[in-house]
Amino acid sequence: MSRKLLLAAAVLFLFLGARQRAVRQPAVSSGPTFSNEVVRIFQTHCQSCHHEGDIAPFSLTNYREAAPWAHVIKFMTATRQMPPWKPAAGCGDFADARGLTAEEIATIGRWVDAGAPEGDRSQLPPPINFGGGWSLGEPDLVVAYPESYTAPSSEDMYRCFTIPTNQSVDRYVAGIDVHPGDRSSVHHVIAFLDTTGQSAALDAADPQPGYTCFGGPGFDLSADATLGGWAPGYRAFTLPDDVGLRLPANSRVVLQVHYHSHDGHPRPDRTEFAMYFSKTGMVERQPHRELRQLVIEPTQPEPSAESRPLGRGHDRRDVHRLPRGHDRRREPRKRDRG
Ligand code: HEC
Repeated sequence: MSRKLLLAAAVLFLFLGARQRAVRQPAVSSGPTFSNEVVRIFQTHCQSCHHEGDIAPFSLTNYREAAPWAHVIKFMTATRQMPPWKPAAGCGDFADARGLTAEEIATIGRWVDAGAPEGDRSQLPPPINFGGGWSLGEPDLVVAYPESYTAPSSEDMYRCFTIPTNQSVDRYVAGIDVHPGDRSSVHHVIAFLDTTGQSAALDAADPQPGYTCFGGPGFDLSADATLGGWAPGYRAFTLPDDVGLRLPANSRVVLQVHYHSHDGHPRPDRTEFAMYFSKTGMVERQPHRELRQLVIEPTQPEPSAESRPLGRGHDRRDVHRLPRGHDRRREPRKRDRG
């Protein structure tokens, strides 16, 4: 082979090599993209809070929203500050624990290091439907007081709002969610059940929206005492499959709201309480097991409302969840286990 030919062959190889590198180039950017891997991680672990109207300060539902945060997202996930989860590892196993796997964290890191590419939009999964801003989607029933209420600016207030549910048959509630109206003054919410209509009389006797109700809701509680409640940090709550809370036909939900203004400027509040009924697939049905939440009365008399120090107004009533048929006497007590 002549030198000239050799040189030509070498040039050809160099050229082919360069071409091959050029062809291999997409292999480098075939790392994670928003539209493929990353949005799926966000759907599973982030969007329940990071969507319009929920507690996180920005949404992560599309590329335009997520891209500006890429570097902060890498940092917050690598340091395990997001998703938020306070229990320290090794201190018990919790249901619905939040957290990313090491692989998911690495995927986000590689995505950000590659310049946070959007990728091919045809690979996007169907968006999650946060119907009306609710993290579990459109509820079956939402109750809220008919008119808004503004809390006092400088003291605690326990106010009860009685709302007819207008259900002609018994329903079984498999999930609840609460949207506090004025997050700056709603301290907590308990949804009591009134099956006798006593709360309507209490409401009628009080000129303002709802009625003042320190401690309990002010009427005798039936066996179906509450549907649950909310305090800052609570997320939508769903029961295991086949367990439901009974919402008796024509009962009223009485929302007891504890107000304590954070900044002395309470805004009008209209808190919403959402319910999801037990279903199999799309069809509503009665679950096999019923959950009853017992309100345990305090053993000592409540201090009067007047003598209670400001900002320390916690109920000494406590709500315990036990499945129906559960035998409390056979439950091992903590101290028995040594
Ligand atoms: C349970 C609700 C919740 C979930 C789930 C959640 N976040 Fe957040 N996130 C928040 C809240 C609330 C804030 C605001 C915190 C604050 O201002 O102190 C926040 C703030 C952030 C910030 C901004 C931090 C800063 O310093 O400004 C980033 C970035 C973030 N989240 C990313 C994520 C990612 C990524 C996920 C999923 C892997 C996630 N979050 C899941 C509630 C959540």
